[in-house]
Amino acid sequence: MFESIEWLPIIPSTNDYLSERLSQGLRPGAVCIADGQTKGRGRLGKNWASPPGANIYLSFYWQLPRSHPNLSALTLVIGLAVLEGLKKLHPFPETVGLKWPNDLWHGDAKWGGILIEQFSRGAKTDPMVDLIIGIGINVTNPTALPVQCEHTDLSTIWGEAPERSVLIAVLLKQLAIFLPLFETAGLQPFLPYWDGFDRLKNRMVTFTAPEGVQTGRARGISPQGALCVEKGDTRFEVHSGEVHTLSV
Ligand code: BTN
Repeated sequence: MFESIEWLPIIPSTNDYLSERLSQGLRPGAVCIADGQTKGRGRLGKNWASPPGANIYLSFYWQLPRSHPNLSALTLVIGLAVLEGLKKLHPFPETVGLKWPNDLWHGDAKWGGILIEQFSRGAKTDPMVDLIIGIGINVTNPTALPVQCEHTDLSTIWGEAPERSVLIAVLLKQLAIFLPLFETAGLQPFLPYWDGFDRLKNRMVTFTAPEGVQTGRARGISPQGALCVEKGDTRFEVHSGEVHTLSV
């Protein structure tokens, strides 16, 4: 599935590197890894601090049918692939998991994240959509995240971390198993994995709904991948945006 892998020194952003090459015959499965990024980007317009040498900055190009029923849930599956792949190298404590939709968490500290960008090059009738999928993982430098959130890294979680190339190899191997399954079967086969890694389950969270900021208890995800939150008799489904945990 991953036919070409480029490992570059320091570039602005691995997502940008691939998206700039979409019109130049880039083939699905192309992977770009950088030692460091000068303009690393996170979700919701945030920066992704990317000091050289310490962490994983990886993007790949992939296509999915425009008609795929669970396109927006892809990001959850990428997070699950990261955890499933890495845990084959070293078990994780139970405190490691995902904060919906795709923050890699240990306790309440973030150690990685995923940025998926969708491109429409051709006509809207093009049966496939182009996706650039970016994965950032703190390996030995916990300061590589926006200062607003608590952060950690894999070497702190595990006590030591293998070479980045070893981590990347298991990640790509797991992605090559999960992505074709997601393409054919959607999110359904991944729901039990999510349950095992859900770091928000039963926690009080705040989120923004059309009617304003709401607080409720997180209750897993819907079959489509939305975060379910209960507030009294009301059940919300959160489809986008950011969710914050409360310590009650
Ligand atoms: C997040 O906000 O949690 C997502 C962070 C995604 C960072 C990765 S690092 C590789 C790729 N290139 C980027 O510029 N961003 C993503």
